[in-house]
Amino acid sequence: MTRMRMKRHIPERMEKCHERWFDTPMTNKGKWRQICGFPEDCQLFLELGCGKGKFCCQTALDNPDVLYIAVERDSSVILAAIEKAHNQEIPNLFFIRCDVGQIENFFNEGEVNRIYINFCDPWNRRNKPKRRLTYREFVEKYKLISKPDLEIRFKTDNDDLFDFSLEEFEHCGFTLSELTRDLHNSEYDSANVRTEFEQKFADEGIPIKRVVARL
Ligand SMILES: C[S@@+](CC[C@H](N)C(=O)[O-])C[C@H]1O[C@@H](n2cnc3c(N)ncnc32)[C@H](O)[C@@H]1O
Repeated sequence: MTRMRMKRHIPERMEKCHERWFDTPMTNKGKWRQICGFPEDCQLFLELGCGKGKFCCQTALDNPDVLYIAVERDSSVILAAIEKAHNQEIPNLFFIRCDVGQIENFFNEGEVNRIYINFCDPWNRRNKPKRRLTYREFVEKYKLISKPDLEIRFKTDNDDLFDFSLEEFEHCGFTLSELTRDLHNSEYDSANVRTEFEQKFADEGIPIKRVVARL
């Protein structure tokens, strides 16, 4: 009942936070820094499948000089993220509601510096590997919209997805670093920001896998 009521009010609640997202984000292509009021030489970080926004809010707060754009396709989920950013008055965080498969319609070549992919849906390697956000066709799209020194920061709980993603990144010409299969017990944990799903998996005792892939 609560869920239905929330869904019914999505347009009104989105409207209240209208400065955080764009009706026609494709018209911002090539102009994100200018339109969001940031210098042309600032870094632009993208998060794909941001969920309810815990990670993007904290990462944007930690990096106030970075323009941070979070992408999510589920309306009620992105609304939760947008409201979080709005309530915390985070000035450098904006949202696009779209499918990642359309990402090249929203960014120009060379516009993005870094991409975060956190706990994307694992799908099944045998049946649906092409839907994984680390599948090579997606990764090639990310390369298209990014600077030549693009960095992808990837985390997952899923061993099979992790191994698959390492193969895909290397296939697409990335060098792997800061690789760990137990992030929370590694030297990288002190700088780590936990996502909603990450906290859930950690509470279940599942080790978190993480890698930084650089072009
Ligand atoms: C398992 S959740 C993880 C959410 C968040 N990153 C976290 O770690 O808590 C995956 C999210 O990615 C979104 N997602 C999956 N495929 C997507 C796509 N092709 N385009 C945009 N969002 C997508 C889903 O709607 C969901 O919110």
